[in-house]
Amino acid sequence: MRDWDIVSGVGITALAVAAARAVESSRAEPLVEDPYAAAFVRAAQAPMPLPTRAGELPREDALWERMSLFLGLRSRFFDEYLAEASTAGVRQVVILAAGLDSRAFRLDWPDETTLFEVDQPRVLEFKDEVLAEQGAQPRCERRTVAVDLRDDWANALLDKGFDPEQPTAWLVEGLLPYLARDAATRLLDTVHSLSALESTVAIEYVHDPKAALEDPAVENMLKEFGFDFAALLPDDPHGDPAEQLAELGWAVGDVSGADLAERYGRQLTDNVTSMFGANGRYLTGRLG
Ligand SMILES: C[S@@+](CC[C@H](N)C(=O)[O-])C[C@H]1O[C@@H](n2cnc3c(N)ncnc32)[C@H](O)[C@@H]1O
Repeated sequence: MRDWDIVSGVGITALAVAAARAVESSRAEPLVEDPYAAAFVRAAQAPMPLPTRAGELPREDALWERMSLFLGLRSRFFDEYLAEASTAGVRQVVILAAGLDSRAFRLDWPDETTLFEVDQPRVLEFKDEVLAEQGAQPRCERRTVAVDLRDDWANALLDKGFDPEQPTAWLVEGLLPYLARDAATRLLDTVHSLSALESTVAIEYVHDPKAALEDPAVENMLKEFGFDFAALLPDDPHGDPAEQLAELGWAVGDVSGADLAERYGRQLTDNVTSMFGANGRYLTGRLG
């Protein structure tokens, strides 16, 4: 598929993760507080039911309990990664496949921070409309870059004022599973070619995402979404991003979803959550 909006193709996954963040935000002591997630879900009018708070969809409650746990852990980890980059002095942030990520609006950023959000044009248009209706104000200099990440996104980013001489904090959250091998390899090569020394990167990845879906319990869970998640995944999945970055000279570390659950005091409650906890990897890297 060449392009999509917020309720079609890969676009709908951005809405599903926003729903999960909305559910997590509605809980006592949430892992993430996203004040805009519910507004995105309400405005999109998705073709299937998506919740905006815990307990709203009693029939699919188990699904959203798991989703809010995964997305809560993932969001918290990447929020902390970005806060650490800011503390270390990085003032340029690029969120690739930003979807409905509202970090420009919900996190504290030091003065002089410029944050670029890259995604498909119609996804970003929808996002900007909803944020404007909400009267949301970014807490940094926010610039959107409407481009396909399989195309020449480097020049689109440079055109918006990205400075390759400055260290950058990159975020690649919820993207790699949807890119075929070549596109994923090219994407990380491009990240490298645009990175000044002391740049950092954080990436969520799953080794062979399609294979991970073959477990019947996971297959059943995904059916409850109401869209064919497996059809969005390419047959030739991305390689190991940790290996690729290490070869390019990055110092790389990674943790699993289970590590994050332990770190943030959450239980992986059943087989499905444990499997995701074991398969989901969260990589961080630093250049120089
Ligand atoms: C699961 S969502 C993740 C969104 C966001 N990172 C988050 O965690 O909330 C996947 C996002 O990847 C974007 N995406 C996937 N392939 C893309 C491509 N080739 N070019 C631009 N965006 C892409 C989709 O539009 C969607 O917003």
